[in-house]
Amino acid sequence: MINQDIFRAATLLRQGELVAIPTETVYGLAANAFDVEAVAKIFAAKNRPFFDPLIVHTDSIEKIKSFVADFPPKAELLAQNFWAGALTLLLPKTKLIPDLVTAGLPRVAVRIPKHPLTLALLRNLDFPLAAPSANPFGYISPTKAEHVAAQLSEKVALILEGGECEIGLESTIVGFEGDKTVIYRLGGISVEEIERIVGSVEVKKHSSSNPAASGMLESHYAPRKKMFLQTIETLLEHYKAEEIAVLAFNTIQNKIPLANQKILSPQGDYLEAAKNLFDFMRILDEMPQKVIWAELLPEKSLGRAINDRLKRAATEKL
Ligand code: TXA
Ligand code: MG
Repeated sequence: MINQDIFRAATLLRQGELVAIPTETVYGLAANAFDVEAVAKIFAAKNRPFFDPLIVHTDSIEKIKSFVADFPPKAELLAQNFWAGALTLLLPKTKLIPDLVTAGLPRVAVRIPKHPLTLALLRNLDFPLAAPSANPFGYISPTKAEHVAAQLSEKVALILEGGECEIGLESTIVGFEGDKTVIYRLGGISVEEIERIVGSVEVKKHSSSNPAASGMLESHYAPRKKMFLQTIETLLEHYKAEEIAVLAFNTIQNKIPLANQKILSPQGDYLEAAKNLFDFMRILDEMPQKVIWAELLPEKSLGRAINDRLKRAATEKL
C-alpha cells in the first residue's frame, strides 16, 4: 500500500508494524524505537546484521532529551543550524533506547528529518522511530517510494508517498570524542558546512575493520552489476564500448554510446548530482550493459560524500 495517510501510518506503528517513511535524504524503514519486537522486524525485513545500529528519528530536541543522557553545547550548536535536516548526532543513550537499536553501543544516533509528511507523523507519535534506509542490506538506498516498493513491498505494512528525496544522500553522522568533533559518515551536509559551525573536524576513515556503522562497511550502496572507477581507457581494454554503461558527473564520454550514459549534473551542480546519484545507479543497474563505469567528482562540497558512496559501490579488480 502506497499513500499519504499518516493517521493509518501512526496506527500501524503503534501496533508494532513497519512503515516506510520519506525523508529529505533517503526513504527510511521505520518502527517504534522503544519496542524491541518492532525493531527486530526491521533487521529481518532488510536482512541486516544485528551488529549494525539504527538511527532514531523524532520531531523535537525536547523529545530527544528525554532519551539521551547528555546533549553537549557543540551538539546544540549543530542541532540549531542543521535540524530539521541531514545531520545525525551520536549522543549517549539512556535505558529507554533498547540495546538492539544501538547494537549494544553506548551512544544512540538521532536525527530530526525535514520531510513535512514525516514530521507531521512524528508529531502524532509519543515514541521515536528507528529507521535505517529502506533497502535490502548492502544495496542502493531508495530516493523514491517506487524504489522501496520494488524491493520491500511485501515486508512493509505501508509506504508513505513523499515524492523524490530532496537531497538524495544519507545524513552526515557526527559525534564527539573528548574535545574533538568527529564525522563518522560523510553525507548530505558537507564537511565545510559543519566546520563553519564548530571549527575543524576529524573525518574518520571508513574501513571494514571498523564496522561500528554499516555506512562504514566498505562494500555498500552497491548495484548488482560490477561498477568500476578506473580510467575509461583501462576499462575498454577489458570490455567493448557497447558493454559499458556510464555514470558521469557533468560530461559525456565520447568513446561510449550516448544511450548508455547518465550525467549526474550537466551544469556541474553538486546538489543536483547528489539528488540523482542513487536513482541513476538503479537505472544503470537495470540496463542491458555488462558493467558500469563511474566518474569521481572533485573532492569538495557534496562531491566528497558522493565519491565515498561511489568508492564503496565499486569493484577494485578488473
Ligand atoms: O539519512 C539517513 O541517515 C537515513 C534516513 C532514513 O534517516 N538513514 C540511514 O540509516 O542512512 P542507515 O541505517 O542506512 O545508516 C545508519 C548509519 C549506519 O552506518 C549505522 O551503523 C550508523 O548510522 N549508526 C547508527 N547508530 C549508531 C551508533 N550508535 N554508533 C555508531 N554508528 C551508528
Ligand atoms: Mg543504509
